[in-house]
Amino acid sequence: MKVKISRKAHFNAAHRLYRKDWDHAKNERIFGKCNNPNFHGHNYELIVSVNGEIDAETGFVMDMKVLKDLIKEEVEDVLDHKNLNLEVPEFEELNPTAENIAVVIWDKLRPHIDSNNELEVVLYETPRNFVTYSG
Ligand code: NI
Repeated sequence: MKVKISRKAHFNAAHRLYRKDWDHAKNERIFGKCNNPNFHGHNYELIVSVNGEIDAETGFVMDMKVLKDLIKEEVEDVLDHKNLNLEVPEFEELNPTAENIAVVIWDKLRPHIDSNNELEVVLYETPRNFVTYSG
């Protein structure tokens, strides 16, 4: 019997979407406002879910306190109040779209989650726009 547990988290971060190898007109056309050279911020909402068997002894799929601390160390401490393009090495050459941020978060968390359990990351860039990555 598998149960999915989820933890919500939050961080604010600034970004700019652009490609160095495209001219200004093309960057404007593809990325619109997100190409603002002076960057802009988003209030990101994150939902991390772990799907697995309930441990017979503890009754947990995973200790929520452990998951909470893991998200703080691996995600919030690394991304909160940061300029993603300038301060987070993963985005030096990678556009910090919601899609790519979700994948980076998943990659950071995956090594710390029991390999028998499935990991899913849902990232809201705005209240209406969100992406899901499960590996
Ligand atoms: Ni944006």
